Amino acid sequence: MDPNGTLFFPGQSYTIASDVDALFYFVLYLPIFFFILVTGGSFFFAWKYRRKGKDTFTPGIANHTGLEIFWTVIPTILVFIIFVWGFKTYLTMNVPPSNAMEIKVTGQKWFWSFNYKDGASTTNELVVPVNEPVNLLMSSKDVIHSFFIPGFRVKMDVLPNRYTTLWFEATETGEFDLFCTEYCGKGHSEMIGKVKVVTEDEYNKWLTSNSGGSDLPPEQWGAELFKGKACFSCHIIDGNPSVGPTFKGIFGREEKLTNGSTIKVDENYIRKSILEPQAEVVVGFQPIMPTYQGVLKDDEIDALIAYLKTVK
Ligand code: CUA
Repeated sequence: MDPNGTLFFPGQSYTIASDVDALFYFVLYLPIFFFILVTGGSFFFAWKYRRKGKDTFTPGIANHTGLEIFWTVIPTILVFIIFVWGFKTYLTMNVPPSNAMEIKVTGQKWFWSFNYKDGASTTNELVVPVNEPVNLLMSSKDVIHSFFIPGFRVKMDVLPNRYTTLWFEATETGEFDLFCTEYCGKGHSEMIGKVKVVTEDEYNKWLTSNSGGSDLPPEQWGAELFKGKACFSCHIIDGNPSVGPTFKGIFGREEKLTNGSTIKVDENYIRKSILEPQAEVVVGFQPIMPTYQGVLKDDEIDALIAYLKTVK
């Protein structure tokens, strides 16, 4: 099939995708066939058995047991085919192979974070090796989100206080879209990301280089984290307030807090705002920032602080 997709679907990039699509087309075209057959038949017989003159009468057709059995049995078989086919695909999609590698997915307003073994973590970009089953263990820190990769035909709700799982095996390298498909508030439409499918070698290299620290100077690393951890979806650096205060000239700025006090933004305030964002909120903003506890490590917070000092 066309790798770029069809009218109904994007390209197929997961082992189960062809099965999902085939079932979809079966369920789409079968009723179209019967719609034409039944409406066409109705018109044909209405015309064929119409009253042709004053003295003719339409034949008084009564029941035909054979026909009735025929049109009861055939649809039953068809519905049964759809059920068995769908249920088999459903089971395949819901039972991950035992050798699947596990990645922890956390949804929160309004970004995705991914935690890999060996301590590597990413935000809004899921990196996976090609041709290897990957099992996502998912939970939410706040409201219900839903994790959807159209190219893989997989979607699963992501809930607070409960784990859900979703597995896939990418069949080609490349970048695929990732969406949140459960309306989760103001930033829902920005809760988008990419799935980056790379070769096994690239993946292992990537994992090693991302499992600890960074070689970049702290300000530069901080600038990457600002983008990579999606801070920018609420804090912009051009001086205008967004969902949260602007980061332009943030360091050393005096801010009025909702508790009536005034603070000067320093290292400790930034650190506290990242880990306990609801504790000291600047006047004029809602206490809606999610905590980055467990998302950012200490050295990453250091790097972000170093970066914020440079945003003037
Ligand atoms: Cu998260 Cu919509």
